[in-house]
Amino acid sequence: MSARPGIFITFEGIDGSGKSTQARLLAEALGAAGHDVVLTREPGGSEGAEQIRALVLEGEPERWSPQTEILLFTAARRDHLEKRIWPALEAGRIVISDRFADSTRMYQGLRRGDLRAQVDGLHRMMIGTEPDLTFVIDMDPATGLARAKGRQGGEERFEDFGEGLQREMRAGFLALASADPARFRVIDGARPVEAVAADVLARALDRLGEPVR
Ligand code: ADP
Ligand code: TYD
Repeated sequence: MSARPGIFITFEGIDGSGKSTQARLLAEALGAAGHDVVLTREPGGSEGAEQIRALVLEGEPERWSPQTEILLFTAARRDHLEKRIWPALEAGRIVISDRFADSTRMYQGLRRGDLRAQVDGLHRMMIGTEPDLTFVIDMDPATGLARAKGRQGGEERFEDFGEGLQREMRAGFLALASADPARFRVIDGARPVEAVAADVLARALDRLGEPVR
């Protein structure tokens, strides 16, 4: 475990894989077990970061250059860390975030040209923090896209890049996971919600050093 008193857990994966659903269910289960849990999301999670979320997810897809986009996601993350994540971890709470820096590594780092080095450089300089535990909810992009498209709302920018890109990202998330098995757990998301949730909870309890009930 890390030196900070709290535990930082993130959910990652392609759009529609079930991250938000599973993050919420894990927060509820750990809360019911007596843990002090903060459930949050990116982009967003703090007042300033939610304002940046609107800038990056709404409006013209080509509104920002790739570099500006990396800066905006990183600025949002820095605010989220300062205002919400770091204070909660210092207070010994469990922070569960629906997406974090691995999303920038994939969505910005893979999408246009070779931007991964810039993503990594900015992360080192401005973020530094890595989660203690990251769940990659893995699934076939066609299924994920169909699920994501079923939702309402004006935030479709990245979903609109289509199945080819989602396929690359799926492979990218799996590659991140195999490079760091201590932090990542890959979860098969193509099962009923309850089965996925039971799997996630068992692995989270294992990481917390608690018996699986
Ligand atoms: P994400 O946060 O990864 O985009 P969501 O949790 O928002 O995914 O789920 C996307 C959609 O799929 C929602 O309508 C949700 O109710 C549904 N969904 C989530 N998990 C499952 C599952 N295991 N099986 C079927 N549908 C699911
Ligand atoms: P999210 O609300 O999690 O979308 P979904 O529920 O469809 O997975 O995230 C919104 C979009 O923002 C999503 O398409 C992924 C994208 N994103 C990035 O491109 N970079 C980032 O750093 C983050 C956190 C999200």
